[in-house]
Amino acid sequence: MDKLLIKGGVSLQGEIRIAGAKNSALPILASTLLTHETVQVCNLPHLFDITTMIELLGCMGVEPVIDEKLNVEVNSSTIKHFSAPYELVKTMRASILVLGPLLARYGEAEVALPGGCAIGSRPVNLHISALQEMGADIVVEDGYIKASVDGRLKGAHIFMDIVTVTGTENVMMAATLADGVTIIENAAREPEVVDLANCLVKMGAIISGQGSDTLTITGVQELFGCSYSVMPDRIETGTYLIAAAATRGHIKVKDTRPDILEAVLSKLEQAGADIKVGDNWIELNMHGKRPKSVSLRTAPYPAFPTDMQAQFTALNAVADGTGSITETVFENRFMHVHEMNRMGADIAVEGNTVIVKGVDTLKGAPVMATDLRASASLIIAGLVSENETIVDRIYHIDRGYECIEEKLQLLGATIRRVPS
Ligand code: EPU
Repeated sequence: MDKLLIKGGVSLQGEIRIAGAKNSALPILASTLLTHETVQVCNLPHLFDITTMIELLGCMGVEPVIDEKLNVEVNSSTIKHFSAPYELVKTMRASILVLGPLLARYGEAEVALPGGCAIGSRPVNLHISALQEMGADIVVEDGYIKASVDGRLKGAHIFMDIVTVTGTENVMMAATLADGVTIIENAAREPEVVDLANCLVKMGAIISGQGSDTLTITGVQELFGCSYSVMPDRIETGTYLIAAAATRGHIKVKDTRPDILEAVLSKLEQAGADIKVGDNWIELNMHGKRPKSVSLRTAPYPAFPTDMQAQFTALNAVADGTGSITETVFENRFMHVHEMNRMGADIAVEGNTVIVKGVDTLKGAPVMATDLRASASLIIAGLVSENETIVDRIYHIDRGYECIEEKLQLLGATIRRVPS
């Protein structure tokens, strides 16, 4: 199992490009199951999770083709099975995203029930109940969600008890081919949901309200092929900006979208960063100064994203002052805190809040990554530490950050991958 070895103390400087958004690419790849025509998906990030989704399509008999520009063309007309096996679902929970499309187009689906994970119990009850409201017959048996429908799904008025990103995506995809109109209230407003909606509209779906908490989808008889380019990854963007702020650096990130990062950019400004933006770039300059502590609370978009919480904890760990960070989306997303304390941070967990007292410097230590964003936060902690940090279990990071050590090297960091 590879590890990342980081020698801290370098202030990040330079320019990098941001990849396509993982959490938009995954549902978009799943949506290709909704048509027998070819869908070309461009700007896919090179990540393990994307490979897993392509493998999942492959194991159902679909043969995605990767062209010389690493775009993927999917034609699902060769599909033979409507099943997502446990072996793949256990490595990637987002496999649940094939449930809605399979059910809507083929009238049946068997998807292994995802279990809990390092950040919380993460049930999928709302995906299931919404599809049941649309007429699906669903049982959970032998560890599998077994779903079927006689004829087409039916449009329904659905109220989501909790804002759920993949839940909204699953139901929206299913509704595109349902008979009649589906209204999803308390829908997720995340930019990735909007990106999926835009792709579905390009395939011929009739959707309105994307980006608001009420989505209206009028079912059509069929969807068609198209070419779609995945939007930039806002979490990757934010992660590099925080790394630069923590190291008192000056960087420019290109091929990104400042308009979907408002909550994060505003917190970085509070931390003392000088931020400039253009249509597709963001420049952050700390002018060599130590960041100031910030307090924040995670919540669904447009509030501060849970996927950036761990990285801000790392920033606060070396900032001037004390900041509190409250996690409201997942119940167990503070695993990075104990590792940071082993590096000399002063962080106390109080229920769903952490109180972070900034220290002058962290000290490198061997640490263990527990999930994707926690891994990113430990890398940031390593970048601001004296001496050497070794981050173990970095397979988490490869699921969601494309070439992270190369991009950090481009910004001047001393980081390398070492086989164990
Ligand atoms: N929830 C339920 N029942 C459901 C669905 C969700 O109780 O049926 C709860 C969850 O347990 C959680 C909350 O609702 O407490 C929100 O979860 P959500 O369903 O929105 O999360 P998700 O769709 O499984 C996506 C991202 C996550 C991101 C969250 C929140 C993808 C593939 N994953 O997960 O991304 O943290 O939304 O924004 O889009 C990551 O990229 O590192 C990551 C974890």
